[in-house]
Amino acid sequence: MIETSRLILRPWEDRDRDAAYAMTQDAAVMAYLPALDRAGSDAMVDRIMAMQAEHGHTFWVMERRQDGAMLGMCGFCPPRPPLAEYEIGWRLASAAWGQGYGAEAARATLDWAWAHRDMASIVAITFRGNAKSRRLMERIGMTHAPAEDFDHPALPPDDPLRPHVLYRIHRPM
Ligand SMILES: CC(C)(COP(=O)(O)OP(=O)(O)OC[C@H]1O[C@@H](n2cnc3c(N)ncnc32)[C@H](O)[C@@H]1OP(=O)(O)O)[C@@H](O)C(=O)NCCC(=O)NCCS
Repeated sequence: MIETSRLILRPWEDRDRDAAYAMTQDAAVMAYLPALDRAGSDAMVDRIMAMQAEHGHTFWVMERRQDGAMLGMCGFCPPRPPLAEYEIGWRLASAAWGQGYGAEAARATLDWAWAHRDMASIVAITFRGNAKSRRLMERIGMTHAPAEDFDHPALPPDDPLRPHVLYRIHRPM
């Protein structure tokens, strides 16, 4: 469990499944993400839980300390195709946007990763047009690597969400 001034980042529990599903039904949250029904949302939670069990980290639940509200998720995953590096990622319920929770969780995630794993760098990817996610990447000190932008191979060739940007941050000296 990771604590910041306003948040707790913790592993998922079954009680988080409804909040995860509610986020998938929020059009603002899903604007640049593939749609998910209840079964798809639960399968995502299963994968996130399995990652925690196998690797000791995952895209953790972001819980607000003040009231225990489940605000979303933030964390990092091991290298997975098409990426060759660890990847940080986030998803916040839209009611929690614009308050700095994403950056607070992302900074805590990076601190944990540098302290507990030995990777030299971490990347983040998102749809080219996802301005909020790109701003968050820049806010936490990540740098765009335009030469490494790519079309996401998991999406169909005609999917408008295919063009992805890649940002990177190196382990602090
Ligand atoms: C990407 C996402 C997490 C960004 O959320 P966000 O709220 O814009 O980002 P932060 O949590 O870092 O908050 C920063 C904003 O809060 C403001 N803010 C308000 N109070 C603040 C405080 N106490 N501390 C810091 N920032 C604060 C900042 O000024 C900034 O506003 P701005 O972007 O208008 O300049 C969110 O849009 C999201 O979940 N999107 C949907 C899912 C998604 O696309 N995920 C990425 C897929 S790859």
